[in-house]
Amino acid sequence: MDDPDERGAPGGSLVRRLLGLAWSYRGGCLRVLGIQFVILTLGISGLGFTGLGIDYLQSVLVPASPSPRWPFGIHPPQGAGPTTVMLWIAGGVLIIAVIRSGLTALDTIWMAELVQGRIVPELRARVYDKLQRLSFRFFDANATGSIINRVTGDVQQVRMFVDGVLMQGIVMLLSLGIYLAYMLAIHPGLTAACLAPSPLIWWISRRFSRKVRPAYQRNRQLVDDLVLAVAENVQGQSVIKGFALQEAEIRRFARANDHVRDQQQWVFDRVSVFTPLIGLLSQTGLVILLAYGGWLVIQGRIPLGTGLVVFAGMLQQFAGQIANIANIADSLQQSLTAAGRVFEILDAPVEIRNPANPVPLARARGEVEFRDVAFGYDGSPSVLSGVSFVATPGSCIALVGATGAGKSALLGLIPRFYDAIAGSVRIDGHDVRDYAVDALRRNIGLVFQESFLFRASIAANIAFGNPDATAEQIERAARTAAAHEFIHRLPKGYDTLLGEGGADLSGGQRQRLAIARALLLEPPILILDDPTAAIDPETEEEILGAMEGAMKGRTTFVVAHRLSTLRRADHILVLDRGRIAERGSHRELMARPEGIYRRTAILQMTDKESRRRIETGDTEETA
Ligand SMILES: Nc1ncnc2c1ncn2[C@@H]1O[C@H](COP(=O)(O)OP(=O)(O)OP(=O)(O)O)[C@@H](O)[C@H]1O
Ligand SMILES: [Mg+2]
Repeated sequence: MDDPDERGAPGGSLVRRLLGLAWSYRGGCLRVLGIQFVILTLGISGLGFTGLGIDYLQSVLVPASPSPRWPFGIHPPQGAGPTTVMLWIAGGVLIIAVIRSGLTALDTIWMAELVQGRIVPELRARVYDKLQRLSFRFFDANATGSIINRVTGDVQQVRMFVDGVLMQGIVMLLSLGIYLAYMLAIHPGLTAACLAPSPLIWWISRRFSRKVRPAYQRNRQLVDDLVLAVAENVQGQSVIKGFALQEAEIRRFARANDHVRDQQQWVFDRVSVFTPLIGLLSQTGLVILLAYGGWLVIQGRIPLGTGLVVFAGMLQQFAGQIANIANIADSLQQSLTAAGRVFEILDAPVEIRNPANPVPLARARGEVEFRDVAFGYDGSPSVLSGVSFVATPGSCIALVGATGAGKSALLGLIPRFYDAIAGSVRIDGHDVRDYAVDALRRNIGLVFQESFLFRASIAANIAFGNPDATAEQIERAARTAAAHEFIHRLPKGYDTLLGEGGADLSGGQRQRLAIARALLLEPPILILDDPTAAIDPETEEEILGAMEGAMKGRTTFVVAHRLSTLRRADHILVLDRGRIAERGSHRELMARPEGIYRRTAILQMTDKESRRRIETGDTEETA
C-alpha cells in the first residue's frame, strides 16, 4: 500500500470536499446553527442583566453615582423599593438561564440526530456500497484491517468535521464577533489591551496543527495494523494453534498495541502542553482587565456593572472561544486525516465498469472464446499471453498446468474479476465488457479451491445467488451436488445454522455446498477452479461424481488433476507459464510421446491410481 504520509491529499481540496458533504446536510446544519445563535444571544442578555443589577445597586448605595442604563427603555415600576427591583432583575436572569439550558438540551439532541443519525450512517453506507463495486485489484492492494477500520473508525472521525469543526467554527466566529463588538462599545482601549495576547494564541494553534496532523495520520495506520492483527488472528486460528504460535501472536499483537500506545502518548503529550498553555494565555487578558479596567472604573470612565463586570464576563467567554480554537484545530486534523482515508475508497476507480449501452444478456448459450488474450496483475502481459481458444456451448474444457501457470487467472477473466489487457474474452460472440457486469456474472457459476460460506442457514447459503429460490430448487441443487445426503442427516437439515465461514462442516461438505450454490442459478457456464484441492481422496471421489451431474448441458471449465476428469473433457488446454503449450483431447495429447502433457501430466496427477495408469499406458476407460 502507498504511504499516505507521503501522498496525503492536499488539505485544501479535502476541506472543499468536506464542505460539500456538509452542504448536502445544510438543512440540519442551519437548524443547529440557528439554535446555537439564540443560545449565544441569551447568554449575552443574562450577562447584561447581571451588570444592570450591579449598576442599580451602586446607584442605590452611592447616591452620587450615575443611574443605570435600562435596556429597551424598560424601567422599574415607579415607587418600587430596591429589594423588589433586585428581585425582578434576579428573576430575569433566572428565566434567561432556564430557557437557555432548555435550548442547549434541544441543541444536543438535534446535533446528535444530524451527525449520528444521518451523516455517519449515510457515509458508512456509501463507503460500503463502493466496496461492493471495487475490483479485486483494490482488495489485493489494501489490507483487510485498513478497509474495516475505514468503514468503522474513520467514518466516525469524518463527521467531526461537521460538528467539531464547521459548526463550532461558525459559532466561534459569530460569538467572537458579537463579543468583540460589545467590548468595543464598552471601551475600545480596554478591548485592545485585553485582547493583546490573542495573536500569540492564534500562532501557537497553527503550529500545533501542523505538527499534529501527520501524527494523526500515522495513528490511523497503526490502528490499521492492530485491526489487521486481530482479523488475521481470528481467521488464522487453526494455523496459529497448529504451529503452536500463540505466544508469537501475542507478542506480535503486543508490539502493534505498544506502537499505537506510544504514538498516542506522543500526541497526548503535545495536546496536554498545548491546551493549558492556551488557557494560561487567555487568562492574562483578565489580569490586564483588572488592572486597567479597575482604574477606568475608579476614574468614572466606565460603569462598574454594565462596564467592568459585563466586560469581564465577555472576556471570559471570548477566552473560552479562543481556547476552543485548540479543540477545533485538533478535530480538524483528525477529521482531515480520516477524510483522506475515506475518500480514498470513495474515489478508488471502479475498474470493472458497466458499458454505457450494455448488450442485453438474459441467458447465455454458453459459447466462450478467448481471442489472443494477454493479462498481468501489473499491466504487463506477465501472467497470460496469446491465449486463444473457443469452447462450444455445453462442452467441457479442462485446464492443466503447473502451479502458477495462470489457470486461475485465465478463469477469472470470464466473469470479469479482472479485465484482459489485450485481446478479448467473448461470450456468445460479444466481448464480456459489452454486457452488464451483473447480467454476465449471473450466467456463470463458480466454485473455487476453497469456498467461503456465510454465517447463515444451509438453505440460505445454497440460495445465496437467488434468495427467492424455493425449497424444491434448493434441494434439487443440493442433490446434484451430492450434498443432500449429509444435509438430510443433520438434526435441523437445511435450517442448520452454519458457523462463521462454515467452520462446523468438513472441507468436502463445504465444497459440496459451494457446488450446490453455483448450480442453483442453473448457469450456462460453470467454472470449477480445482474445487477438490483441499480434500481427501475419498471425498474427492464423491465430489467429482457430483460435479459430473453438474456439468451436464453447461459449458464447463475445470482445473483438473485427475485422469478421470481429463479423459472426459472435450478439450484440454495445457498452460505453461501463461501460454497454451498444447491442446487437444486426452487421447490426442497422450499420442504425442514428447508432448508436455504426456511428460508432465503424470506429475500433476494427485492420485496414485491415475499415475499408475498413465505410466502403464492404460489410460482408456476399461470399466
Ligand atoms: N492477486 C495477484 N496479484 C499479483 N499476482 C498474482 C495474483 N494472483 C496470482 N498472481 C500471480 O499470477 C500467476 C498466475 O497465478 P494463478 O493463480 O493463475 O496460477 P494457477 O495456475 O491457478 O496456480 P495453482 O495451480 O497453484 O492454483 C502466478 O505467478 C501468481 O504469482
Ligand atoms: Mg489456481
